Amino acid sequence: MQEGRVLPPYRIKVIEPISILSLDERRDRLQEAGYNMFHLRSKDVYVDLLTDSGTGGMSQDQWSAIMRGDESYAGSRSYERFREAVDEIFGFEYVLPTHQGRAAENVLFSTVVKPGHIVPNNMHFDTTRANILANGGEPVNLVIDEAFDPSNLHPFKGNMDPEKLRCLIAEVGANRIPVVLMTITNNSGGGQPVSLANLREISAIARENGLPFFIDACRFAENAYFIREREPGYADKSPAAIVREIFELADGMTMSAKKDGLVNIGGILAMNDVETYEMTRTRLILMEGFPTYGGLAGRDLEAIAVGLREALDPLYLADRVGQVRYLGEGLKSIGVPVIEPIGGHAVYIDARALVPSIPQSEFPALSVANELYLAEGVRGVEIGSVMFAHESDDGTVQYPKMELVRLAIPRRMYMREHFDVVIDAAKSVAAKCDSLPGYRLIEGSGPLRHFVARFMPLHRA
Ligand code: F0G
Repeated sequence: MQEGRVLPPYRIKVIEPISILSLDERRDRLQEAGYNMFHLRSKDVYVDLLTDSGTGGMSQDQWSAIMRGDESYAGSRSYERFREAVDEIFGFEYVLPTHQGRAAENVLFSTVVKPGHIVPNNMHFDTTRANILANGGEPVNLVIDEAFDPSNLHPFKGNMDPEKLRCLIAEVGANRIPVVLMTITNNSGGGQPVSLANLREISAIARENGLPFFIDACRFAENAYFIREREPGYADKSPAAIVREIFELADGMTMSAKKDGLVNIGGILAMNDVETYEMTRTRLILMEGFPTYGGLAGRDLEAIAVGLREALDPLYLADRVGQVRYLGEGLKSIGVPVIEPIGGHAVYIDARALVPSIPQSEFPALSVANELYLAEGVRGVEIGSVMFAHESDDGTVQYPKMELVRLAIPRRMYMREHFDVVIDAAKSVAAKCDSLPGYRLIEGSGPLRHFVARFMPLHRA
């Protein structure tokens, strides 16, 4: 076997059939879906890259662990095994399971965020942003400027700009900032990693100002893999050791286990401060469940305990990030503009560069996402004006800096042939980029409108 070659450290034991519709059928399905990928049924999709969240393949060890699920209401053995894994990997004092990431956010933010508060992050994911808004807070993105230039090759484009954080604290005052967040990897900015040096600096600024520093840990293992690959001094450290170093800098974390927990459902809220713990625990009982199951079944806790450890296997991570890179490099090779460097869980097509003729008011990234489905039954997701455009106080529409189509790769699920189909789809979309339609929004509003919106194509003359 070739030395250094990245290969999948697994083979297939169970298969799930997927279907291939004709072009006419895809056209009908897309129209019925109101030209929104969230309204499509999975049976009408061939390669489903809508999200890497909860969509991965579980291992035989996870399925075996599920049989050990202890479904006792209080003090179950499954909770103990879950705790052991979370303690070993992240090392926080207090740990609460939640049914998914946004529930951890909701429990935390409904406890600590009050009207008038400002919550900085490198970049908020949409549920994080919406949860802060729902509690009267204002989410602020402080990622480095390089993050907005899709071709800038900065190795840690997820980093927060320490100067921007200092300025914000000076401007609004530390007492209006209940928590400083950092999302690893930065999903909304292209799945880009954050360096340990940056985490150290941001954590120090938070500490100097007496502010708790929390990490949104969804893709902690992928972030550790990039640190090992790119940050001087870490090449010989294990992903697990790097993860320990990251989380020693933090006072707590929220996490969707549906990503690097390698499970289909689950989340974690963890912290060191006893007062915050006691308040969040009460909210958890109200909103999720008793603290030893928190909205999950015992068997889910078992699967998380195994999945968190599997996600730190260097061979798994090399294959995982390698798959994303294979797709990204394939798209680049046919001239499709993508965010670079290629991220950890997804490839992001730069739709503004691909279809400059469609104005942001007509949703260029939505148009590209819809064409990918028409071309080969590929489902990606718009991360652009549908998701982020909003009216400011004076009534003008604020558009996001980037119009992206995210192709998120489920973990341990697809093979190279599937990625080749995606590359073919992108090739045919690029070939007709001058004639793609723009869209008009006909249904849906508010910060979560992208999940429910419906559109109408604006056919060109
Ligand atoms: N934070 C980040 C960075 C995320 O990417 C997500 C989910 C969440 C929080 C919320 O977690 O879905 O378990 O409630 N991201 C998914 C995605 C949905 O497609 O990127 P959740």
